Amino acid sequence: MAVGIFDSGLGGLTVFDAVAKRLPDVPLVYFGDNSHAPYGVRDAQDVYDLTTAAVERMWDEGCDLVILACNTASAAALRKMQERWVPTNKRVLGVLVPLIEALTERSWGDNSPPREVEVKHVALFATPATVASRAFQRELAFRAIGVDVEAQACGGVVDAIEDGDMILAEALVRSHVEALHRKMPSPQAAILGCTHYPLMHQAFQDALGPEVKVYSQADLVAESLADYLQRHPKMIGSGQQSKFLTTGDARKVSDRATQFLRRQIQFEVA
Ligand code: DGL
Repeated sequence: MAVGIFDSGLGGLTVFDAVAKRLPDVPLVYFGDNSHAPYGVRDAQDVYDLTTAAVERMWDEGCDLVILACNTASAAALRKMQERWVPTNKRVLGVLVPLIEALTERSWGDNSPPREVEVKHVALFATPATVASRAFQRELAFRAIGVDVEAQACGGVVDAIEDGDMILAEALVRSHVEALHRKMPSPQAAILGCTHYPLMHQAFQDALGPEVKVYSQADLVAESLADYLQRHPKMIGSGQQSKFLTTGDARKVSDRATQFLRRQIQFEVA
């Protein structure tokens, strides 16, 4: 009974950690495609090809349900995967919708027509590919009206985090927030639309100021997954063992993951 959690690299560990705390009895197979990260600068076909290959590998581990804990894959590949690739007995879910449901004050899976919501000015920080896809705006428009979204593509942040260079990552966050402020001086809320960014949550909050509510996905995704599994208990697959798989250098990736989660994490080669 395992659930798969996928990311291009280490960012999905923020989601993994929250899910592991929320669902401690569910074995989780984490897959980081570190040798191909970052996805955020790739085109949609490339992201689709890499994501489908990784998800297939997780099916081999007994995961019938895979969470794309990667906004770039959720934005650029998920819809096409769901429409023409995922077999009927498997599920692949993304991380954008739980976040938008929280922002628009909806219960999980509430598909009622769009309505006015409290928040009117939203800053979206995401990878260049996620911003280019406009998937966030599309999903938001299904649920809310009258929300002004200003998107800031945060080039370089994922590379810096994957390299463990948090000083560079912080400097880049400050400069991306400055760029956002030039376009939207007073956002009410900010979306960290990349699963790597919660690792820089404080840097975003400091640069944005205390009055801005910063949304990040980990806990929201964990909560919506718990709700989903309650409604669809059969989607917990046959896998029995939690494990961490990477396409990258297992030792290097394990060291970085241990540093980020502050506990021993051992990756093996996918
Ligand atoms: N952490 C991923 C996301 O949420 C991927 C970032 C990347 O590989 O560029 O978008």
